[in-house]
Amino acid sequence: MTGSTQTLPAMVRMALPSDGPSLAAIHARCFGRAWDEAAMAQFLGVPSCLVLIASSHEDAPAQGFLIARAASDEAEVLTLCVLPAYRRQGLARALLVSLVQKLRRSGTQRLFLEVEESNDAALGLYRSLGAEAVGRRPGYYEHGADATIFSLAL
Ligand SMILES: CC(C)(COP(=O)(O)OP(=O)(O)OC[C@H]1O[C@@H](n2cnc3c(N)ncnc32)[C@H](O)[C@@H]1OP(=O)(O)O)[C@@H](O)C(=O)NCCC(=O)NCCS
Repeated sequence: MTGSTQTLPAMVRMALPSDGPSLAAIHARCFGRAWDEAAMAQFLGVPSCLVLIASSHEDAPAQGFLIARAASDEAEVLTLCVLPAYRRQGLARALLVSLVQKLRRSGTQRLFLEVEESNDAALGLYRSLGAEAVGRRPGYYEHGADATIFSLAL
């Protein structure tokens, strides 16, 4: 990984089952088609899923989170979002750096991230971490937009 990834400017912790409602609320603020509490509960109950929560300081409520799924020696980020009011403060980067640390410890070799081609924030974020575009999925999103697939060697 490259860039300013050595420091964690935010608090990152593993999510608990009780975090499901806040994760659904954050997702609804960040995406048009949000994942509801039932969906969050499913992710929180699957051993292969890692759900990490970020906030700007220890006592603050969740301000962003990611969900990743690991299989064999690969993993993928299923979703990543930060509340609009807390963006550009390093929360997403802290989430991904923490994820990478955990995946490395468990022997994962490669992390995949998909992003809509017009999502400048996520494109900038993934590139800043050293991820490389390795492919495209035409029409991947429900509204027809293409996805770019990024890969990060761990
Ligand atoms: C993408 C998203 C998660 C980034 O969260 P964030 O906490 O604001 O990101 P960070 O503050 O950690 O940014 C880290 C780096 O990413 C890049 N970046 C972040 N936002 C950016 C933007 N709007 N434009 C360009 N680059 C951006 C920059 O390189 C930034 O480093 P810098 O601030 O030192 O320049 C957030 O914008 C978001 O939740 N968007 C809506 C949901 C979404 O699109 N999720 C991703 C696809 S699943």
